Amino acid sequence: MNVLVTGGAGYIGSHAVRALLAHGDSPVVMDNLFRGHRQAVPENVPFFQVDLAETDKIVQILTDHKIEAVLHFAALTYVGESVQQPLRYYANNTAGAISLLTAMDRAGVRKIVFSSTAATFGEPEEVPIVETSPQHPINPYGRSKWMVEQILQDYAGANPKFGYCVLRYFNVAGDSLGGDIGEDHTPETHIIPNILFVPLGKKESFTLFGDDYPTPDGTCVRDYVHVEDLIDAHILALDALKDGDRRYYNLGIGRGYSVKEMLDAAERVVGQKIPHQVGPRRSGDPGTLYTSSEKIQRELGWSPKHTEVDDVIATAWNWHKNHPNGYGS
Ligand SMILES: NC(=O)c1ccc[n+]([C@@H]2O[C@H](COP(=O)([O-])OP(=O)(O)OC[C@H]3O[C@@H](n4cnc5c(N)ncnc54)[C@H](O)[C@@H]3O)[C@@H](O)[C@H]2O)c1
Repeated sequence: MNVLVTGGAGYIGSHAVRALLAHGDSPVVMDNLFRGHRQAVPENVPFFQVDLAETDKIVQILTDHKIEAVLHFAALTYVGESVQQPLRYYANNTAGAISLLTAMDRAGVRKIVFSSTAATFGEPEEVPIVETSPQHPINPYGRSKWMVEQILQDYAGANPKFGYCVLRYFNVAGDSLGGDIGEDHTPETHIIPNILFVPLGKKESFTLFGDDYPTPDGTCVRDYVHVEDLIDAHILALDALKDGDRRYYNLGIGRGYSVKEMLDAAERVVGQKIPHQVGPRRSGDPGTLYTSSEKIQRELGWSPKHTEVDDVIATAWNWHKNHPNGYGS
């Protein structure tokens, strides 16, 4: 299948491009490189440095490459930044998705897999979260994605042949097993790289945000899904997506690990103690977030391979120790 990957030079999108190639598909990447890396995209994959706002250019790419489906990863992704710069998040993530859908409409492309997020659920009333759990996002990032979910529903209502799949990711973690692509964000907000920056000598100690949550050890509990397992779900979703489909799946391994458990696991993986300190809670951080993945396992046959956190962290350590400065190494 000819697939447009928006945000294909980013952390998750670049893993998707490799998986599409391995699956026999023909990916085309579009990324404005604001937080992506040209080196993350193989030379033989068509690449366009285009912004989501550039509707006409997207129509041209969709038409020229006979695109049949879109994997839409491109977004700004930091909760804290979204609180500081809400208009930028709504413009990039929500208006950007409208521009993309407008281009798809003009080019006659009728299938999309959309990267949504656990942040659309806000503070969950109960865990595990399921697809039908109430969505009450508590920050502009979560709301910018939740709005796109609503827009997809409305657009599909008016276009019965349009098919979409919303994948709501929990915490995406780890790096390619091949070790040649990986996570490289500036600033980096994700827990695993931030822990590993200490043994790499890039930081003196790791700060965990809050140890007084109502969890077994007081630190936040999250559901970490390996990036390659996450991408497997996209391939399954693409293959399953039919005209008129409206699919929603939560993507996590169905089990939570606390920040302290992550730190302990990282110490086992790197074989040394990792100095850390306790900082204040971050506003808007729920204590416990994990999801059931029963629906996607049942409907699409998805089955995560990396369910042990040591295994996930080992793939990240493999990338970071060989690329201490990311793609600039
Ligand atoms: N990483 C996670 O744990 C996680 C969790 C939930 C959801 N998500 C979602 O997954 C997607 C990918 O996340 P990621 O971690 O790979 O982020 P990332 O920042 O590494 O990748 C996003 C890519 O999109 C590009 N981009 C952003 N805005 C753009 C625009 N207007 N036009 C063109 N390109 C643009 C960036 O340059 C970047 O390469 C995002 O939609 C994010 O919201 C990620």
